[in-house]
Amino acid sequence: MIPVILSGGSGSRLWPLSRKNKPKQFLTLFGDTSMFQSTLTRLNGLASVEAPLIVCNNEHRFMVAEQLQEIGLKASGIILEPCARNTAPAIALAALKAMEKGEDPVLLVLAADHIIPDVPAFHKSIEEAQKLAEQDKLVTFGIQPQSAHTGYGYIEAEEKSQPSSVKRFIEKPNLSTAESYVTAGNFFWNSGMFLFKASTYINELSRFSPEMLSFCKQSLEQAVIDLDFVRVDSELFAQSPSDSIDYAVMEKTDKAMVVPLDAGWSDVGSWSSLWEAFAQDANNNVLIGDVMVENVHNAYIHSENRLVTVLGLDDVIVVETHDAVMVAHKDQAQKVKTIVEELTKLN
Ligand code: GDD
Ligand code: MG
Repeated sequence: MIPVILSGGSGSRLWPLSRKNKPKQFLTLFGDTSMFQSTLTRLNGLASVEAPLIVCNNEHRFMVAEQLQEIGLKASGIILEPCARNTAPAIALAALKAMEKGEDPVLLVLAADHIIPDVPAFHKSIEEAQKLAEQDKLVTFGIQPQSAHTGYGYIEAEEKSQPSSVKRFIEKPNLSTAESYVTAGNFFWNSGMFLFKASTYINELSRFSPEMLSFCKQSLEQAVIDLDFVRVDSELFAQSPSDSIDYAVMEKTDKAMVVPLDAGWSDVGSWSSLWEAFAQDANNNVLIGDVMVENVHNAYIHSENRLVTVLGLDDVIVVETHDAVMVAHKDQAQKVKTIVEELTKLN
């Protein structure tokens, strides 16, 4: 089994800590390793794990190489995307690379920005999924929904018993649809982690997006190999349609199966999800660094350099870094992205 680590996201909703040259997956937010490193070390102890394939933005190549070295891991390849084309092409490059020598390994596709506290439970779900992947299934790991979150994909299970085949896969529904799914009871959140044979994914992609597959293939055939780095051809890769695995394959395939994952999973998508992921104090606050508060509740306050003090505010996010301070209502956490977009236009 080859882990494929998707680390090409920009993490703009965690601005100002997450930056273009160091997005959130490379930051050490918990413990003493970055989220990218934890994604890999979390696999320790799992049987038959081979050297990982990393797919990332060309600009992050040295950070990836350095962070791999820090945890004593050697990748079987660091595939460099010259531009972002979302997850479906990124996974296609990894699958094609893994099949280069005529082999057809099982791929464990992981996002580099998840927290999974219960590692043994995670390993158990992976082992269960492996058997299904061998039978040509595209396995997703399903999370019991905690709320009608609209930032996630939803999986409708066909059968009551698990693992189950997938009746429908719906990527990021609107709020009322998400609410009806949570009430229905037979829906999971899509964790964004997948397990399948390289050939199963490639065959499904050739059915649903032959143009994407063709450009990914050509860009890899023309790739320049530079030590562990695989530099795919930029002109060819840029011509690939941009789409996520969720829309391009999972919503369309009839080979999807869901294996439940009950391991305290969370996606560190925004400041409010980071607040949820940390242990909160008696006032439901998460205070990081040099912070003083008075009459503050349900807040996430993070100081990197200076003393930050907050008085009489609830549901607030404050993040201080060397060159920017962000203050936001917790309800607006998803909109941090729009500030980053505005700033990018100015630069
Ligand atoms: N290499 C590469 N290239 N990686 C990418 C790219 C890309 O172009 N775009 C995104 N990624 C990486 C991100 O770094 C992240 O690790 C992962 O792929 C998923 O991308 P996100 O952008 O975080 O997706 P999402 O959170 O909106 O939605 C996905 O994850 C949810 C769970 O967290 C979907 O799979 C949803 O269905 C799912 O519920
Ligand atoms: Mg995400």
